[in-house]
Amino acid sequence: MPLSFLKKRKSPLWDRIHSDDATRLRLKYDTYYHIFEEQSGTRVVKDGKEFVMLSSNDYLGLSNHPKIKEAGKRAMEKWGSSTTGARLANGGRIFHRELEEKLADFLGKEACHVFSAGYLACASSITGFADRKDLLFADKNLHSSLWSGIKLSGARCERFAHNNPDHLREILEYEDDSVEKIFVLEGVYSMEGHIAKLPEFTKLAEEFRAFVVLDDAHGFGVLGNSGRGTADHFGMTDQVDVLCGSFSKSLAGVGGFVASTREAIDYMRSHSKQTIFSAALSPASCACAQAALEIMQEEPEHRARLQKNLERYRSILSDLELDTWESETPAIPIVLGEKEKVYYFWKALLEKGIYAIISIAPGVPPGKDLIRTAISAAHTDEDLDKIEDAMIYAKTKI
Ligand SMILES: Cc1ncc(COP(=O)(O)O)c(C=O)c1O
Repeated sequence: MPLSFLKKRKSPLWDRIHSDDATRLRLKYDTYYHIFEEQSGTRVVKDGKEFVMLSSNDYLGLSNHPKIKEAGKRAMEKWGSSTTGARLANGGRIFHRELEEKLADFLGKEACHVFSAGYLACASSITGFADRKDLLFADKNLHSSLWSGIKLSGARCERFAHNNPDHLREILEYEDDSVEKIFVLEGVYSMEGHIAKLPEFTKLAEEFRAFVVLDDAHGFGVLGNSGRGTADHFGMTDQVDVLCGSFSKSLAGVGGFVASTREAIDYMRSHSKQTIFSAALSPASCACAQAALEIMQEEPEHRARLQKNLERYRSILSDLELDTWESETPAIPIVLGEKEKVYYFWKALLEKGIYAIISIAPGVPPGKDLIRTAISAAHTDEDLDKIEDAMIYAKTKI
């Protein structure tokens, strides 16, 4: 007797998965999730062809630094691969505390908590403090990790125009004075490369008694004294209540942090689910981040080289009259405004051995479809020559 009647009926969700346009188009144009079979410095190899990487966030070029590799190996040897649990459950280790103390000290904050991803850290910087009764004010162009934190907090959120304190003021003036207010900002906006207008925002925060959360994933290592970040760049570390960021940019690792007062970090450890229920940062990741932090302070030549590369890269793009959305940092978009143009430009770069990344609406505002690039201290003069030739060629294709 046929047993087909025993077969489980397929869930309609499989139809959704099967007919999803976003996935179909992504696979058709093959724009994301590429796999490289080799990596050496700024060069990566795919299907035997070498590319200059122009979209990673290794701003200081530390990802291959011998001291970092050595620190990771030693930590793995001593502590094994993982502490296999959340810190609330089976404890942190002395290396977590050491990194947290060094990072807090570097950032000019009293205390710090490290996470296994920047995404978790930045989400926690909201969920650890905001509650349902609070009112969040968020820059329209925030990173997804912050939107996740905002959503999970359950608090009402008002969006203001990107990096626009005047618009924020307009919104604030409508709101009830007695509600707790939290501003959510980025130090350097990852897609646009814009630096937050922190002096204006912190002035508003003082006037409206708002709590300020600043995600400095892209300012950390790049701006401020020895790379202390955007708050330090403006001399406003004390005006920012909570600083968060990632290890996957200038520190060339994985993980993230939230820094604030001792009391606030303890409070977050009681309230953020991402802090309570997610496994601790691994021994090797912790050791690599600590080594990178030390290098940032002991070897200023990486920032100097980044600056030099940045100047040359900017002049290449400006000679070609490419629109860089007034980026002020090593995160540099090339705005082409239409997804077709972006695609052909990107293909031409690939053809010439340059790997960059496409970002189109709704990931960016309509009309701002772009190629997102980032310059690194590790780019050599030869890399920059190659980038220049490729940009000249790509410009002819749009
Ligand atoms: C502004 C910002 N915040 C947070 C993150 C998350 O960091 P990670 O990728 O290390 O999880 C990123 C990473 O892209 C980012 O750009």
